[in-house]
Amino acid sequence: MDVPAKGNILGHYMPARYILAILGSIGMAIVYGLKVNLSVAMVGMVNNSAIKNIIAASGGSHNQTNYNAEVGDVECEGSNSEGKATMELDGPFIWLPGVQGIVLSCYFWGYFVSQLPGGRIAELFSAKWVMFFSVTINVVCTLLTPVMAQAHYAAVVVMRVGEGIGGGVTFPAMHVLLSKWAPPAERSVMSALVYAGTSLGTVISILTAGVLTANVGWESVFYVMGGLSCIWCVLWILLVQDTPQQQSLISAEERQMIVTSLGGKEGGHAQKKLPVPWRAVLKSPAFLSILVAHACSNWGWYMLLIELPFYMQQVLKFNMTENAVTTSLPFLSLWIFSMCLSRTLDWLTSKSYITTTIARKVATLFASVVPAVCLLAVCYIGCARAAAVALMAIAVTCIGGMFCGFLSNHIDIAPNFAGTLMALTNTISTIPGIVVPIFVGALTQKNQTISSWRIIFFVTIGLYIVEIVVYTLWGSGEEQPWNKIPESNDNIETKPLNNDEKKSTV
Ligand SMILES: *[C@@H]1O[C@H](CO)[C@@H](O)[C@H](O)[C@H]1NC(C)=O
Repeated sequence: MDVPAKGNILGHYMPARYILAILGSIGMAIVYGLKVNLSVAMVGMVNNSAIKNIIAASGGSHNQTNYNAEVGDVECEGSNSEGKATMELDGPFIWLPGVQGIVLSCYFWGYFVSQLPGGRIAELFSAKWVMFFSVTINVVCTLLTPVMAQAHYAAVVVMRVGEGIGGGVTFPAMHVLLSKWAPPAERSVMSALVYAGTSLGTVISILTAGVLTANVGWESVFYVMGGLSCIWCVLWILLVQDTPQQQSLISAEERQMIVTSLGGKEGGHAQKKLPVPWRAVLKSPAFLSILVAHACSNWGWYMLLIELPFYMQQVLKFNMTENAVTTSLPFLSLWIFSMCLSRTLDWLTSKSYITTTIARKVATLFASVVPAVCLLAVCYIGCARAAAVALMAIAVTCIGGMFCGFLSNHIDIAPNFAGTLMALTNTISTIPGIVVPIFVGALTQKNQTISSWRIIFFVTIGLYIVEIVVYTLWGSGEEQPWNKIPESNDNIETKPLNNDEKKSTV
């Protein structure tokens, strides 16, 4: 597997591990961008006037079925007179709110099933090619979406499930690559760089999709974004390899530094593949606390990612252009915040001021306490739109702490199973992604008011409190004994293990 480092032109300019992290970040950005673009394009795809008429004609009294939410305890004024007119951008498709909900949420059906197989394949064979598959299927399905939409909404559902299948394997695949490429002292920064790509993708996608939908037409959203993403696929094949040992575009010093920092030998033999010690994993408090933190945090994340644009539009009465900007800018500050926080924590850890455990907990607290407090405040400020926007922005920004918090914690506790563990927690955390749109839809379909949104926000706050308590008490940044159990027979590290854990892997 060893390739001599002679063709090393690129390595002179930028360390290979940062090329991997940056391309990984762009890959995450593409997958997330192609995921969220539909919620923006949808505004230009559906015929809102026709839908409004259908709902008014079918439902009971007019008061209860007012789609534009003039019913309820609190009613917010539109931002300006044209605000409402801009919202009524009519497209060709008469998809009722229920259908729109299915089209938006079915992404998660694919996302749900692909992660564990994807994570395990990435560990056993090649994370590089799993990641490549992921982005490529997203690009293809995106390019086909306009044609499929003309046929039937069910065809769009198929495309979205395909995108979800691709999207599901990104986190496990990147976790496997990070476990082989990130020196422990740079783990927070590299994880944050890669995963915060999701937020950059979100910003760029929402802004571009808004502009394209309003000015060029909703089809262009899919063609432009899908087309540009093809460039990444070529670069990924050329510039990224599964391990430092396989990479020829790397300096000998960098390769040695990475491999020795990860406790391996520079010889670069293919590592023996270990079976997953399922019993030990499922009994590990360190793992279970990541699981709880990930699931609770994702509820809040999907709330803000998918439902925030909707809340801004329906309750705070933003027009589409304002909506795109106010929704997406927080994701930019999220990116900046996660970069700064991860740099700071890596530095504090490398100077031994704090342990990895403390670093992960501090980052996770940022990502949970702040959004919870902001949501609580949003419940009580009514129509104060500027304040609501500011609070939402602060909440989304601080969620960025998760990338160097519980989200990179899998690699600390068990680098050999980083892909599988990420797939496990991310699969469970997909359930909120399925439930959130249905839950919000059920509460707001007929009553688009602040009080129905208040229930939604309180449930979210409750879940954040669970996350805070569980992760603070049981989280850990230390490598767990079951990471290494069956590695070799002569290994002294297997001796301190108790019998129970040993048996579980046989
Ligand atoms: C939307 O529906 C209305 C009423 O049903 C119809 O008059 C209009 O032409 C439709 N617009 C588009 C773009 O299909």
